[in-house]
Amino acid sequence: MVDLDKIISLCKRRGFIFQGSEQYGGLQGTWDYGPLGVELKNNVKHAWWRGNVYERDDMEGIDSSVLLNRLVLKYSGHEDTFSDPMVDCRKCKKRFRADQVDPNEKCSEGGTHDLTEPRPFNLMFKTNYGPVADENSIAYLRPETAQGIFINFKNVLDSTNRKLPFGIAQIGKSYRNEITPKNFIFRVREFEQMEIEFFVKEGTDEDWHKKWIEDRYNWYIRLGIKPENLRLKAQTKEELAHYAKATTDILYRFFPDKEEEDKQFDEVEGVANRANFDLTCHTKGGKLVLADGREIPNTHAVNKLTYFDHESNQHILPFVIEPSAGVDRATLAFLMDAYCEETVNDDTRIVLKLHPALAPIKVAVLPLKKNNADIKATALKIKNMLMKFGWRTVYDDTAGIGKLYRRQDEVGTPFCITVDFDTLENNTVTVRDRDTMAQERVAIDDLKNYLTEKLGTF
Ligand code: GAP
Repeated sequence: MVDLDKIISLCKRRGFIFQGSEQYGGLQGTWDYGPLGVELKNNVKHAWWRGNVYERDDMEGIDSSVLLNRLVLKYSGHEDTFSDPMVDCRKCKKRFRADQVDPNEKCSEGGTHDLTEPRPFNLMFKTNYGPVADENSIAYLRPETAQGIFINFKNVLDSTNRKLPFGIAQIGKSYRNEITPKNFIFRVREFEQMEIEFFVKEGTDEDWHKKWIEDRYNWYIRLGIKPENLRLKAQTKEELAHYAKATTDILYRFFPDKEEEDKQFDEVEGVANRANFDLTCHTKGGKLVLADGREIPNTHAVNKLTYFDHESNQHILPFVIEPSAGVDRATLAFLMDAYCEETVNDDTRIVLKLHPALAPIKVAVLPLKKNNADIKATALKIKNMLMKFGWRTVYDDTAGIGKLYRRQDEVGTPFCITVDFDTLENNTVTVRDRDTMAQERVAIDDLKNYLTEKLGTF
């Protein structure tokens, strides 16, 4: 299986992902998506939205603000508890996450690290809104998209007349001032999440939790992840956040180089049963209960976040199941899983066997001879025709046909269409399949149907 270094190199070489602020030496924990990366990432998000919103009858979507009123994060508990344990090395002055540093590791100043006691470091990015930067104008960049969903629960409920069970989906940026961002786009300071808060009646929560774990696992498999690279792991009591009733993580084999198999896997998504913790925190007159048992009454919220249950004739605070995935981690998992190196005619062919729905480019149209005006014009005509069907289609004549095929293989383009001299005679083209490299002659008039069947609809 491919290691991260090869993926990083491919991403840079072919314009998927670049270091953020590279022009000025970089900004740690930020990455910029290039021409192909933005297509891939958009396709991941579209596949998620389609699978979780369009293809279900019990979901609505929202897009809430990144900037949050400080009170949202006070009553959610983030101001008090959203921290990681941090340690400093007294010798080299570097900072580490306490659970990620080996005290026996070599220090650049000689010997091993001389570490301080761990202390909490809040991961939220604080900013000020408006022209005066003081205590009263503090706002936060959201550390998760979830809070935007909880505080809009009543807005969505009132405007859609939904009945339980129903869910709210959101995709968007989140920000965490990670102590040690690392492993490419795996742990970064600016990332995107795809989150669902699925509201259910208490008592049905455990069944819904199981269903969501299964649904979310199958989404990755449907989009091409190999089952041997995906795992489910139920969190132990010790690992569980104090507000969660149960959480199962979906793990991907991000680190195949590690010796111990268990360490090769890390979280791409968490599916939590959060009971009614969040709506209780944010509802008017509700309260936040911290892990140490302290209770903080909510004296600021303006609306009750309850649901009127006609069966029991009571206002209830629904329970919530939360499948929460990282866009960047999912994108990395799809890239790693699709990467193959094959030997063809004593040469190495790099090919990304991405699911067609995820492939950044769906079709490349290639002229066999670029200096033949008729061949070139026909190829451009086909490119423009296919583009209209919604497929990202490109035209390329900057190399010989063999090289052009390899270029498209390396970025995962499922089909290449070659226009040659026969095309001018009989209006047919060669369609080459990325994975099998098999070529078929297809009439230009049949291309739409042929490709629709092969690519599928997305
Ligand atoms: N609302 C729940 C929540 O945010 P989380 O486990 O902290 O839960 C959910 O985050 C997902 O977001 C993770 O499974 C991961 O895919 C992604 N994620 C979290 N922190 C990240 C980071 N620093 N860099 C990249 N992705 C991250």
